[in-house]
Amino acid sequence: FEVVWDASAAEKGGWPSFMAKEVSEEPEAVANTIRGRVHPGAEGGEVVIPELDGLDELFVGIRHIIVIACGTAAYAGQTGAYAIEQWTRIPVSVELAHEFRYRDPVIGDDTLVVSISQSGETMDTLMAVKYAHEKGAKTLSICNTQGATIPRESDAVIYTHAGPEVAVASTKAFVAQITALYLLALHVGRVRGVLSAAESADHVRELEAIPAKIQRVLDEEQAHIEQFSHWMADTQSVLFLGRHVGYPVALEGALKLKEISYIHAEGFAAGELKHGPIALIEPGQPVFVIVPSPRESAELHKKVVSNIQEIRARGARVIVVAEEGDAAVLPFADEVLRIPLAGPFFEPLLAVVPLHIFAMGLANAKGLDVDQPRNLAKSVTVE
Ligand code: G6P
Repeated sequence: FEVVWDASAAEKGGWPSFMAKEVSEEPEAVANTIRGRVHPGAEGGEVVIPELDGLDELFVGIRHIIVIACGTAAYAGQTGAYAIEQWTRIPVSVELAHEFRYRDPVIGDDTLVVSISQSGETMDTLMAVKYAHEKGAKTLSICNTQGATIPRESDAVIYTHAGPEVAVASTKAFVAQITALYLLALHVGRVRGVLSAAESADHVRELEAIPAKIQRVLDEEQAHIEQFSHWMADTQSVLFLGRHVGYPVALEGALKLKEISYIHAEGFAAGELKHGPIALIEPGQPVFVIVPSPRESAELHKKVVSNIQEIRARGARVIVVAEEGDAAVLPFADEVLRIPLAGPFFEPLLAVVPLHIFAMGLANAKGLDVDQPRNLAKSVTVE
């Protein structure tokens, strides 16, 4: 009789892969990133980030925010930028770290460069932070790894508390990064007097409701998504469309599929469809569409539904990610993935979850190693 101790299986806590475990931890990753950073305040929800103590003067003075990152972290940045701009009224640009450094960006001491990195060791991002520093900008890092190099090289850091992420493809860190950006935006918005205490408290309540809503997506959609990803095991190409905050979600959905399923995948801004991508649509082409909330934006919702009609008329196989109760998408969808209702800007934290499950389901259906995809490294420490 021999007891075989498989350390790796033990670390996976009964899950078939680290990625499966980490997707299941997405609710916790958001909750842990919020924990300790919300105080009752006057209206019942004020963001207080102890790591940013003493920086209020800086936040009042900045005139430009540049977010830099690579890969999934860059899509988190692109998602967060909408809320940062809205809640702080500071112009925000988002750039891939390796592009940022090789031009001569207009930055100075009124620029805040926010870097995002799960590992805190990505060389491209680190070099961009150092470059921003040399140019006189203030640097703030959003990082998941305590004591990593990028936070050490930055003026300030907000740690995401997603817990260790082992699978190469980033999942729980993505939702934690968006959460950290929202906390930063709420704090800066209050400091600058753009948001009232009541408005900030409303957003905080929305954010605090997210973990339970992600859990509902996992409970209610996981089996369904895994089933149809098995039917799609022979698919050669998948397109993703999104608009506004749904656009970076589409990019992240496509990236995840490339990373672990080795399938050609592209994300597009839905409004760009008629400017080119619609030429790709042929009968049977699977297209995921992230549908904006009809409650939050009737106009955008209508436009995206009309995009769906256009691709459906050309034979696309349409898989929609839409909020509960949105019946307008039903006549044109082959599959409907439901997400709970969420306030403005919060939808990405829910809509990305089915896409993470789908990428994993498809990679599993193809018999691939979801944790260690070919040619990729968890942390790229060379330029
Ligand atoms: C690598 C990983 C990606 C990750 C990117 C940024 O390319 O394969 O999954 O998104 O690096 O990593 P970071 O640790 O900086 O977030």
